[in-house]
Amino acid sequence: MKPYFHHISVLKKEVVDYAPPSTQTILDCTLGGGGHSHSLLDNNSNAFLYGIDRDSFAVKAADRRLKHFNNQTRLAHASFSELPILIKKWGYPCFDYIIADIGVSSEHLTCPERGFSFLYEGPLDMRMDPKRQNLTAGNIINNANEHELMRILRNFGEERYARKIVSKILSERSKKQFRTTLELAELVNIVIPNKMKKRGFNPATKTFQALRIAVNNELQELSYLLEYSPSFLKHSGRLAIISFHSLEDRMVKQKFRNWENPCVCPTELPYCVCGGIPLGKVITRRQVKASKEEISKNPRSRSASLRVFAKN
Ligand SMILES: C[S@@+](CC[C@H](N)C(=O)[O-])C[C@H]1O[C@@H](n2cnc3c(N)ncnc32)[C@H](O)[C@@H]1O
Repeated sequence: MKPYFHHISVLKKEVVDYAPPSTQTILDCTLGGGGHSHSLLDNNSNAFLYGIDRDSFAVKAADRRLKHFNNQTRLAHASFSELPILIKKWGYPCFDYIIADIGVSSEHLTCPERGFSFLYEGPLDMRMDPKRQNLTAGNIINNANEHELMRILRNFGEERYARKIVSKILSERSKKQFRTTLELAELVNIVIPNKMKKRGFNPATKTFQALRIAVNNELQELSYLLEYSPSFLKHSGRLAIISFHSLEDRMVKQKFRNWENPCVCPTELPYCVCGGIPLGKVITRRQVKASKEEISKNPRSRSASLRVFAKN
């Protein structure tokens, strides 16, 4: 295993600035390389930080990065869906600030053995938690039926050429199993018409995103996080979520809106009879995006989108 973990945190200043005043307890749901956690502890010197990541390598990296704060942290290898069990184990702490910077780390994308990248030759893997997940991208590509492959590429990749790609996968895999990332990337490159290829955008991007989401059950994981997190927040506590693609951002936006205005009464009624009680307020009216300066230093930050909700 490599001795370092490569990741540049996005929207770091914004994540720190949106922390509630006098933050005492923080939950970082996506430790990654520990960059956000480190900045939050640097700026809230009395705070205690609980942190999780479903990638055990990330937890180890964050632990190393945060060693200066080791009496102010408690880290665990876990996914969003395991938070209720963990919170119980931790003795039911309540948080001033919950942060989730969802998706993959640069480490995932630049480490060929992890199989997330269409740029490097590696196994078709894409598991964030290889110790505990069995299903790999290769299993899906080589075994899923036509309907399932279409569902994944359309729903999770919003891939316009899903039908063509799936049909080529089916014909190729009847001759030989897919083994590597580049075999799949090459197939997609052949299928997508040249005139539809955009400069600076690899044609395999959507297919790889779709597979990664399916392998890691990412949308379901996000919905668990959105379901559980309000109950873990203190009054006036805040939930900050950074997402990297429109499917996730839409889920966050809709959920936040719904918490702010849970009323389901018909608009023609003069007052609310449904009894929906607002949970708090969205404090980022629009998604917060990285500055030009940040994008020039870290191009990956271009697609990051931050939204913050404050509980009443
Ligand atoms: C973008 S990185 C986080 C980087 C981190 N904020 C930093 O500043 O270094 C996203 C991390 O979230 C983790 N992750 C993604 N989905 C998760 C889930 N459902 N539960 C726990 N961790 C998850 C990934 O393993 C990855 O390490």
